[in-house]
Amino acid sequence: MKVAIVGATGMVGRVVLEVLAERNFPITELLLVASEKSAGKTLLFKNHPYEVITMEAAIAQKPAIAIFSAGGATSLKYAPLFAAVGTVVIDNSSAWRMDASKKLIVPEVNGHLLTKSDLIIANPNCSTIQMVVALNKLHQAYQIKRIVVSTYQSVTGTGVSGVQQLMEERNGITDGPKAYPHSIDLNCIPHGGTFESNGYTSEEIKLVKETCKILGDDKIGVSATVVRVPVIGGHSESINVSFQKELNLAAAIQVLSNTPGVVLEDNPAKNSYPMPINAKGKNDVFVGRVRMDLTEPNTLNMWVVSDNLRKGAATNAVQIAELLININ
Ligand code: A2P
Repeated sequence: MKVAIVGATGMVGRVVLEVLAERNFPITELLLVASEKSAGKTLLFKNHPYEVITMEAAIAQKPAIAIFSAGGATSLKYAPLFAAVGTVVIDNSSAWRMDASKKLIVPEVNGHLLTKSDLIIANPNCSTIQMVVALNKLHQAYQIKRIVVSTYQSVTGTGVSGVQQLMEERNGITDGPKAYPHSIDLNCIPHGGTFESNGYTSEEIKLVKETCKILGDDKIGVSATVVRVPVIGGHSESINVSFQKELNLAAAIQVLSNTPGVVLEDNPAKNSYPMPINAKGKNDVFVGRVRMDLTEPNTLNMWVVSDNLRKGAATNAVQIAELLININ
């Protein structure tokens, strides 16, 4: 299969290459694509050098699949051009996620919706992916009424520039480029994306809308607060979730331990709970600190951690590509 990686020089693009190699994705020809300034550079895949090419050169070669991680504006302009030559685009940006004609896919949750006629497929926001993977089976069993989520998001979610700002601050460099409006080292910034007129940020609204679209239920209430923290390795989420049906802790834990994509890590007596330092480089969603809310009926609290560059982006995109291969 001829596969193009668009944004191959970027933070997510590089992890896409790692995941494709690890999972032995059946590639017959690999096209590594980035902006014109990177054309001619060399990147390695399975220890072989590949020259980075431009968008136009990649479209001319009509790949079967293109995994895009090059930002929303690039995707809006180029995804339709790839689709026009028959390429199936799996897009990591927010450009197509809320387009009613495009599917927003997390394979463990709604992968069954994919068909051969889908030419642009949206990969959800990183924080949304780990939340819906954790909650999907509980939703099927007990019907979610409302979710209150606060995120603790890694600087890797901002791309190269976020990691660079954190490391420069840590090394005492003060005059470098800034990805955030404040210092990120030794700090928490309650601001992801841009502020909207209702007081929420664009990253918070993504969690609200994408969760309802993926779970296929517009009645689920989602209240989100997104916070950037000086962490590398993954996003963490404190989730308070209320259900329509009656549930108890033992039954909820049973459902979580049988949820695809979830690893339950919940042994307080041994100080065992999910942490980004342990999630880094892994493909799973880690769930712990599961407990009943003491003030609301049929409501759980939990702590959910996943590597945002892996399941939150690259791994989910590659899993979608794997599903596509198996659609008849
Ligand atoms: P480049 O390295 O040539 O700028 P990150 O978010 O980690 O910074 O990565 C963004 C990725 O998207 C990079 O690979 C970047 O390539 C790529 N990119 C940005 N703009 C374009 C564009 N107009 N066409 C193709 N790739 C682009």
